[in-house]
Amino acid sequence: MNNNTFVHKYVRTLITKDDICVDMTAGNGNDTVFLASLAKHVYAFDISEEAIRNTSERIEGYGNVTLINDDHASIDRYDIGKVRLFIFNLGYLPHGDDLSCTKPESSLQAFQKAYEMLEKNGYIVITFYLGHPGGKDEYYLLDSYIKKSDISVMERYRQDKPDSPVTYIIRKL
Ligand SMILES: C[S@@+](CC[C@H](N)C(=O)[O-])C[C@H]1O[C@@H](n2cnc3c(N)ncnc32)[C@H](O)[C@@H]1O
Repeated sequence: MNNNTFVHKYVRTLITKDDICVDMTAGNGNDTVFLASLAKHVYAFDISEEAIRNTSERIEGYGNVTLINDDHASIDRYDIGKVRLFIFNLGYLPHGDDLSCTKPESSLQAFQKAYEMLEKNGYIVITFYLGHPGGKDEYYLLDSYIKKSDISVMERYRQDKPDSPVTYIIRKL
């Protein structure tokens, strides 16, 4: 099973129609649409206009999604309130350019802000891609922050292949 399949299978068991969720990297909208089908409301960020356009086509018919064309590290500028679950699917917009790739420092900032905004027993689901330039640096930076901050990782998922993506399911205790 690939990481996206694992994430959707797991997340399905974590959220209900009462929950507010945030997709921190909307991309082509796969995670946004998935969350919109389960949650009360979904905020979806992407720094790329193309990604926001692609996602807006995917969410036609859903009245419970707010798209935000901004850096996810600026999430604290928005009035979102407490959040049940965040999804970070790091890396590139498929077929996008280098500018569409997440960067270690801003991903860390966004992660810290997301953790602050989580309700008690809320979740952060984060997938790291190690196979592209900078991907390992991003993983090591966030992984060492998570370890030193004593943040609880409930599940780790990785296929047994070189440089395969790594998913963490984090719960705020
Ligand atoms: C792997 S794709 C996400 C895939 C998406 N979740 C889906 O279901 O199609 C990563 C996305 O992160 C976005 N991104 C990169 N840096 C960002 C940032 N600082 N803030 C918000 N989005 C960013 C890229 O534009 C790209 O669309």
